[in-house]
Amino acid sequence: MDEPKAGELMETLASLCKRRGFVFQSSEIYGGLNGFWDYGPLGAELKRNIKDCWWRWMTRLREDVVGLDASIIMHPRVWEASGHTTTFSDLMVDCLLTQKRFRADQIEAQSGTAYFYTGATEAAAGKECKDPFSVLIATGKHPGYAREAARHFYKQRGLREPVLQGERSEPVQNTRGYNPENGSLLTEPRAFNLMLKTTVGPVESADNVSYLRPETAQAIFVQFKNVLEVSRQKVPFGICQIGKAFRNEINPRNFTFRSREFEQMELEFFIRPDEAVEAICGRVARPAGPGHPGEPQPDWGWQLWHQYWVEERLRFYESIGLPRASLVEYWQKPEELAHYARATVDVLYRFPFGKRGPDGQLIGEELEGIAARGDFDLSQHQRFAARSMAVFDEELKAAWPKLEPARQAALAERFFQGRLGYLLRMGEAPGAAEKQARQDAEALAKGYYIPHVIEPSAGVDRLALALICEAYAQDQAPDEKGKLETRVVMRFHPRIAPIKAAVFPLLKNKPALVQKAREVRDLLRPHLSVFYDEAGAIGRRYRRQDEAGTPFGITIDFDTLGERGLELKDTVTLRDRDTMKQDRVRIADLVPMLSARVR
Ligand code: GAP
Repeated sequence: MDEPKAGELMETLASLCKRRGFVFQSSEIYGGLNGFWDYGPLGAELKRNIKDCWWRWMTRLREDVVGLDASIIMHPRVWEASGHTTTFSDLMVDCLLTQKRFRADQIEAQSGTAYFYTGATEAAAGKECKDPFSVLIATGKHPGYAREAARHFYKQRGLREPVLQGERSEPVQNTRGYNPENGSLLTEPRAFNLMLKTTVGPVESADNVSYLRPETAQAIFVQFKNVLEVSRQKVPFGICQIGKAFRNEINPRNFTFRSREFEQMELEFFIRPDEAVEAICGRVARPAGPGHPGEPQPDWGWQLWHQYWVEERLRFYESIGLPRASLVEYWQKPEELAHYARATVDVLYRFPFGKRGPDGQLIGEELEGIAARGDFDLSQHQRFAARSMAVFDEELKAAWPKLEPARQAALAERFFQGRLGYLLRMGEAPGAAEKQARQDAEALAKGYYIPHVIEPSAGVDRLALALICEAYAQDQAPDEKGKLETRVVMRFHPRIAPIKAAVFPLLKNKPALVQKAREVRDLLRPHLSVFYDEAGAIGRRYRRQDEAGTPFGITIDFDTLGERGLELKDTVTLRDRDTMKQDRVRIADLVPMLSARVR
C-alpha cells in the first residue's frame, strides 16, 4: 500500500470511528481541541475490554503481580526524582513565517536552493528590519516564490512595502532547517518540557505548581514499600496500574496515536540484582536462545526476566487479535537507550500511517516499551525522599555466609561498582558516592538491596487504534435478494469486541417473536454485552453489527417458537460474523457456549 492509500485508509477508519461511535473529537462543537479524544459507546466498551484483558492477564491470572490505582497529581518532588522536570522534553522548532511548531525529529531532510536575505527596508516610511531570513525552494523553481515568502516575513515585522536586502542563494543538501510545508526558515531547536502544569490549592503561585502525571509508573515506585508491606509479596514480584497520563505533545498526530491525554497500562516487575541471584543460586541463568523462556526460575538474571516479559507481552497481543506478523520486536540500539536502561524492546504494530523500510514493508510504530531499568527509579526516590527503598531478602542473608570468601568479595565488588557508577552519574561527589556504595555492598552481604525492575509499559489508546486497524476489513456478502455487495466488517477478537452478541427477532410485528427475543436478551445480559435490535430487515441488522464488530448474531424465528416442529423449539440461529455461517443452537446452550468463546 503506498502513502496516499494509507492516508485514505486512516481517513476511512476515522470516519467509521465517528459514524459508529468509537471515537469522537473532544469538544467537537467548539471546534475540537488538538490532541484530545472522546470514546463513544462502542469505543468505551472496546477500551474497557482492553483494560480488563490486560488486568486479567497481568495480575488476576498470576500469583506474583498486584494492582495499584494512584492519583494523577503527585508531589512535585516525584518528578524531580524521576528526572521528568529536567529531561522530559522534546526538541521543538517553530516556522518563522507561520509560527507553526514542529518536533525537530519529525522534520524530514530536504534538498533544494536556499535564498538568504539580510533584512528589508521601506524607504517611504524610513523603516528597516535587520532580521535575517531564508527560504528553501526546489532547485529550478522561480526565485519569485522565495521573494514572495520573504516579503511576507518582513511585512509581519511591520514593513508595509518591504524591499529585500542582500539576497544570495546556494544549493543545500539534506537540511532539516526549513518548514517542509512552505520552505520558511525554522528556529533553532530548543527543548520543550512535555509535562502539563497545574497549581494545587486556592493560591496560584510558583510554590503550588504541580503536574499532571506524564506516566503512571512513578506512583508505583513511590508506593513500592507500602504495597510490599501489605501484599505479603516477596521479590520477584510486580505492581501494575492502569490510568491516565498527560503529555503536552508538540505535534499530536495520526488520529489517537499521539495524544495529549491518554491511558497507560504499566507493570513494574521487581527482581533481585544479579549479584543476589548468584549468591543464592550459585549461578545466574541467561537466555539460551530466542522465544519464551518458560516458567520463571529462581536463578534467572535480569536478561531472562526481560526476555520473559517481552514474550509474555507478545503472547498477550496475540490473545486479543494482533497476530505476530502484525508486530515487530525492536531492540533499541545502545545509543538509543535511556542512560539508566540496560535494554529496551519496543513492540511495534504495523500501523498504516507508519514509515516503510527499503523493502516497502511497514516498519511499525510503538505500541509498548519493555525496559530493563536496573535499580534507577527506586534509587532516585530513596535519595530524593530520604527513605530506604531496600528490601530484606531472607534467602540472601542465609546464603551469603555459605559463599567462599573470594566469591563474596567478587560479588560485593561488582555490586559496589554498579552502585558507585549510578551515584556518580547522578552527580554525587566522589567521596560521598564511594562511601554510600560501600555501605550498599555491605548491606547486600546482610540481605538488603534495592530491587531492579523490568517495566512493560503500554498505551491503551494506541492498542485500541491498532485493534481497530487490524479489525477493519471489507468483503462480499449477499444482500436481501442474494446479490453480492461489499460489506464493512470489524473482525475484532471476541475478547475485545465491544458488543459480544446481538439478538434479533426475525420480525418486529410478531409479538411472540419479540417476546422470545427479549427473553433471550435478558438471559444473556448478565454474562455478556448484548445489543437488541428489531428495526429493519434482518440483513441490514446483520450489516450494522458487522460494522460494530459484534462476533455473534442470534436470530429468533418461527422455529424457535416451535411452529415448524417441536424438535427445533427453543433453538435459535447463531450467526458467525466472519464466516456468516449460521448454526442452530439450543437457547439453553447459549450462555456456556458464548461465555467460553469470549473468555
Ligand atoms: N513509564 C515508561 C513510559 O511511559 P513511554 O514509551 O513514554 O514509556 C509508554 O510510554 C507507552 O505509552 C507507549 O508505548 C505508548 O503506547 C503510550 N504513549 C506514550 N505517549 C503517548 C501519547 N502521546 N499518546 C498516546 N499514547 C502514548
